[in-house]
Amino acid sequence: MTHNIVVGAQWGDEGKGKITDMMAREADVVVRFGGGNNAGHTVIVGDEKYELHQVPSGILYPEKMCVLGNGVVIDPVELAAEMEGLEKRGVDLDNFYISNTAHVIMPYHKKLDRLEEKRKGSEKIGTTGKGIGPAYTDKVARRGIRVCELLPEEIFQEKIEQALDYQNLVLEKVYQAEPMTVKEVKAEYQASIDKISDHVTDTSILLDQAHREGKSVFFEGAQGTLLDIDYGSYPFVTSSNPTAGGVCTGAAVGPTLIDRVIGVAKAYLTRVGEGPFPTELQDEIGEFLRDKGHEYGVTTGRPRRCGWLDIPLLRHAVRVNGLTGLALTKLDVLSGLEEIKVCTSYQVNGKKIAEVSGTSEEYQPQYETFAGWDEDITGIRKFAQLPENAKKYVESIEKMAETPVEIIGVGPDRKEAIYRQQ
Ligand code: IMP
Repeated sequence: MTHNIVVGAQWGDEGKGKITDMMAREADVVVRFGGGNNAGHTVIVGDEKYELHQVPSGILYPEKMCVLGNGVVIDPVELAAEMEGLEKRGVDLDNFYISNTAHVIMPYHKKLDRLEEKRKGSEKIGTTGKGIGPAYTDKVARRGIRVCELLPEEIFQEKIEQALDYQNLVLEKVYQAEPMTVKEVKAEYQASIDKISDHVTDTSILLDQAHREGKSVFFEGAQGTLLDIDYGSYPFVTSSNPTAGGVCTGAAVGPTLIDRVIGVAKAYLTRVGEGPFPTELQDEIGEFLRDKGHEYGVTTGRPRRCGWLDIPLLRHAVRVNGLTGLALTKLDVLSGLEEIKVCTSYQVNGKKIAEVSGTSEEYQPQYETFAGWDEDITGIRKFAQLPENAKKYVESIEKMAETPVEIIGVGPDRKEAIYRQQ
């Protein structure tokens, strides 16, 4: 019986889908604890490619219980569509549960997300436009609608009426936008509420039972540490806590139950959306990483910004998540580069800084240069068989991050990985 967490150690898109899929295989229960359909996990199983946005990746194993915890925000329309898509491909959803106290992303949240980005102009966050920020705003402002209030219909109707009293004021007076009607909001959501409602339950009790029965529970992180509302590069962050602490509040699990926390980091660094990125490469090496690593967002299709690995930021992720190990993904993407750089510290106003709790445009990265390798490493399954320079690169990262690299990703398929015995 173990309780393990996997979180993103960077700006999301670290290749967590593959690592979480591997971890899910060993667990009885797979839980998502935060975020919503702003996430996008790609899992490749043989010739099949699955793009999951809300449903935990454990769903691809029929015998697993999969849970969306109370910390998640749920878009019923998109969730229902995702569930239908999975069912069409033969995926069984009998063991899929949704927390009755998770908050609902409403149609006006999506509208407000886009309007606010437009209002900000050049200061925009670069959100996914899925209504995540406004949904969490309403949760904290104590005017949100929870999954348990989607039914019965009269309750939902009453909740929408109350919500629109406020939301229409904002739409009309702040954004000069069209107000929404109860009828249109209800009509947009009704069919999907029917689809998801059989899966709604008190997941806090469900997870407690699983624990008491000695089941292994795996908490699947979305986004990444640098997008965390507290520990990320604020304000260019998402509106939840995708870090390890988010498991306790977002899945109703006490910290004493957690055994391992694995942070997933790419062998380089990417970011979508706006905000500072000190090691960003706006040159042909950045292009090389984007093309070879297929660095385009799963949710929005946006090209990702690419750069060198940043150790001060990785150490920050180790610290705030209490990482017990690292999974280093996409090492194969670096094959063919003559030299690989790693940011080991920054220069700020003439001073060297090695420990940071965030990032800034003012940070001038200081690099250590490693020799690259040419070999295709996708077929390698043992650390000892990696090219010497690749081994040196990985060993230097674990030394600098003071955290063991337990898994190394060498290709997109779930089998293309090296497991190291620590
Ligand atoms: P939001 O979560 O849609 O509000 O977007 C806020 C910021 O988080 C933007 O920079 C997004 O690009 C980023 N973001 C949100 N979810 C993900 C993710 O799953 N991967 C990478 N970036 C994300």
